[in-house]
Amino acid sequence: MEGGGLIAVGSHCSLSEMDDLDLTRALDKPRLKIERKRSFDERSMSELSTGYSRHDGIYDSPRGRSVLDTPLSSARNSFEPHPMMAEAWEALRRSMVFFRGQPVGTLAAVDNTTDEVLNYDQVFVRDFVPSALAFLMNGEPDIVKHFLLKTLQLQGWEKRVDRFKLGEGVMPASFKVLHDPIRETDNIVADFGESAIGRVAPVDSGFWWIILLRAYTKSTGDLTLSETPECQKGMKLILSLCLAEGFDTFPTLLCADGCSMIDRRMGVYGYPIEIQALFFMALRSALSMLKPDGDGRECIEKIVKRLHALSFHMRNYFWLDHQNLNDIYRFKTEEYSHTAVNKFNVMPDSIPEWVFDFMPLRGGYFVGNVGPAHMDFRWFALGNCVSILSSLATPDQSMAIMDLLEHRWAELVGEMPLKICYPCLEGHEWRIVTGCDPKNTRWSYHNGGSWPVLLWQLTAACVKTGRPQIARRAVDLIESRLHRDCWPEYYDGKLGRYVGKQARKYQTWSIAGYLVAKMLLEDPSHIGMISLEEDKLMKPVIKRSASWPQL
Ligand code: GLC
Repeated sequence: MEGGGLIAVGSHCSLSEMDDLDLTRALDKPRLKIERKRSFDERSMSELSTGYSRHDGIYDSPRGRSVLDTPLSSARNSFEPHPMMAEAWEALRRSMVFFRGQPVGTLAAVDNTTDEVLNYDQVFVRDFVPSALAFLMNGEPDIVKHFLLKTLQLQGWEKRVDRFKLGEGVMPASFKVLHDPIRETDNIVADFGESAIGRVAPVDSGFWWIILLRAYTKSTGDLTLSETPECQKGMKLILSLCLAEGFDTFPTLLCADGCSMIDRRMGVYGYPIEIQALFFMALRSALSMLKPDGDGRECIEKIVKRLHALSFHMRNYFWLDHQNLNDIYRFKTEEYSHTAVNKFNVMPDSIPEWVFDFMPLRGGYFVGNVGPAHMDFRWFALGNCVSILSSLATPDQSMAIMDLLEHRWAELVGEMPLKICYPCLEGHEWRIVTGCDPKNTRWSYHNGGSWPVLLWQLTAACVKTGRPQIARRAVDLIESRLHRDCWPEYYDGKLGRYVGKQARKYQTWSIAGYLVAKMLLEDPSHIGMISLEEDKLMKPVIKRSASWPQL
């Protein structure tokens, strides 16, 4: 079936074409039909470009391949599957959660070695994403569909912390199915932040929900789910929380600390890269699924405008490479008016020492945070990988992110992929920034710990940028330890050599992340589910100097 049929794609109206006044015309363009002839591997990244087309990523689904011809993983591929694969599938299935007989998600961890369950016996929205991708890649979409519908129902609940009501669109961080064996009933309790440690609301949950809805649609070719009034409303509610006009002077999303995977205080309040990249990806995913009827059209218009501004802001102000670092190092401060070069009044003295040594001549990354007189120079794995997957990064920037990873392999990957952020905070800084958090000590947990789950995002970024050899190196490291160590949640230490001090064993997203990475390497056409192509008509803002030879 590969390349066999005609597939419809949306009109090629990129953001650069669609200036804000022209949107109505752009939306009314007829859909084109293009023939898909060559395999994924043959096509270059720029050739894959379809722009910020409304239906980008849905109608150009590789579904013929993904659903009909893709081998159900491991058992049916041409080369020997690693023995860890079978074990991982078993463990993943053991973590499945059922509600009234239907699978609706996977538990965060099934660790029988500890009594300290905390909330790891719940289905976390963000944790379920790699599980969902594994099931989709294996041709088992039902659990994903039930999960999407169940969480959508939960979104409709009234959410309160003490006497304060949260926005209607907020999606839960996690939920738990309570089974009453006597009455034989199932009930659900959900956590929107009102029970979470530190009472943090999960800003990322809604974005992951939209991204997953697109992955489901793209993988199955089933448009009926995303087109239901319920799903359309769900997307609009999530986005209306972020697209409302207010006091903001930046298109980035202002967040509290701990509102994403890093769900404890780690100095990521403000404009954290993880949220900005997910926000961008969710906006683009929603754009491909929203129907331009009634308030849908208004929402689409807002999304298009925001994407314009957000990509400009991120590509210019969050991007750091040797050249930019040197520019910031020489910045003047206290500049007033529109002519200011140092727009956010970043003080060169605030550049930490480590970054000068860390930054190679070749390579770059999106920094952790940018705000008034504030630049967090830390490197964060998730934000940079999602920037590649969503094409928030230009093709040049994507390559530079991969170059940096290769250059700084010891620091960022070490012996266990992948550092959640680099470097860690220590001493006085740790005390001030984390509030003396004993779980986030240096090189542990969120503070420079190594998280196997991030392997799937790294692998997806490698596949998208055509550099699978990097992912293979990382997979080899995982295969040498993860199973032996009983699939821990995270590792500690500068090289990630030690199983994390408080890490759960049999952490589901460590297991699912490994499966997704393996299946992506086996069949790179799966990448379409979780990747959006660069808008080829949109001129990159940042020009890198002459291209470097491939390593
Ligand atoms: C921890 C992680 C969070 C994850 C949860 C469940 O709280 O910080 O990202 O979702 O565990 O695994």
